[in-house]
Amino acid sequence: MNLISIFDLTPAALDKILEQAHTLKRARRSGSKVSTELTGQILALIFEKPSTRTRVSFEVAMRELGGEVLSLNASELQLGRGERVQETAKVLSSYVDAVMIRAYQHATVEEFAQYAAIPVINGLTDFEHPCQIIADLMTIQEYKQRLQGVTVAWFGDGNNVCNSLIGGAALAGMAVRVACPAGYEPAAAIVEKARSMGCDVRLTRSPEEAATDADVLYTDVWVSMGDEAEREQRLRDLKNYQVNEALVARAKADALVMHCMPVHIGEEMTEGVLYSANSVIFEEAENRLHAQKALLSYLFSVQD
Ligand code: CP
Ligand code: NVA
Repeated sequence: MNLISIFDLTPAALDKILEQAHTLKRARRSGSKVSTELTGQILALIFEKPSTRTRVSFEVAMRELGGEVLSLNASELQLGRGERVQETAKVLSSYVDAVMIRAYQHATVEEFAQYAAIPVINGLTDFEHPCQIIADLMTIQEYKQRLQGVTVAWFGDGNNVCNSLIGGAALAGMAVRVACPAGYEPAAAIVEKARSMGCDVRLTRSPEEAATDADVLYTDVWVSMGDEAEREQRLRDLKNYQVNEALVARAKADALVMHCMPVHIGEEMTEGVLYSANSVIFEEAENRLHAQKALLSYLFSVQD
């Protein structure tokens, strides 16, 4: 089984992974960090783009499960000088037991999975970031004790993280409000699919409207990896979508503030909000580790 899109998970599979993630977190907190569950298994991590959380959490997750990791920079592989994705996928399938790829284009990860004989995990593309959202749903569950009926509001760029969040919300029974300027909407196909699953997804130009009575406020960088050439234009277009103290004041008093990180202080979020009582951003980052341990455990246990 692969995790290319958050929609690759059924609601039941997502529930199972989340439950295991909480169990693993409790076990780690009580000193039981390491297991032998994946002894003998090797996970390759391939990066076309930088990463702190995804790289380190996958490496630590795999090692704590008893397995091993190879962390590979795509530019140092033959991929970086023109070897095709499909041959790379076939060859790596004969060496390692699973691959996580962070790629510029979503099609690269899809193509890799098409030719690989081993599980393939999307570690972020221009279209989705499903691993992030598993950790985010785990974080919301921790603080709200539920997902069903929770309203999450997204501010700014309707990007890869936003797309996967909408998918995750559809799987978990949450409602989504997206406040973004024209041209920054999440993918129409994702919104349509979520709505077809009964998810209440509303798009608005007004951050104030989206924040009102929200349970969760979520934002991400205004300039994603790969969008650097548009930086100045993006800062101008997105300037009214900052998650700041005034916006948080419109949400429920116990609203959670989330961000996948890295945070660009003074752009999409103020420092005050990052370190406010509402912020669960560092717990969210920690939960990448627990959620990915649960995901790896699930993917290695599933037969197809
Ligand atoms: N949130 C996230 O994926 O962070 P990194 O880019 O540091 O991996
Ligand atoms: N949207 C951001 C997420 C970083 C984790 C990016 O793609 O750069």
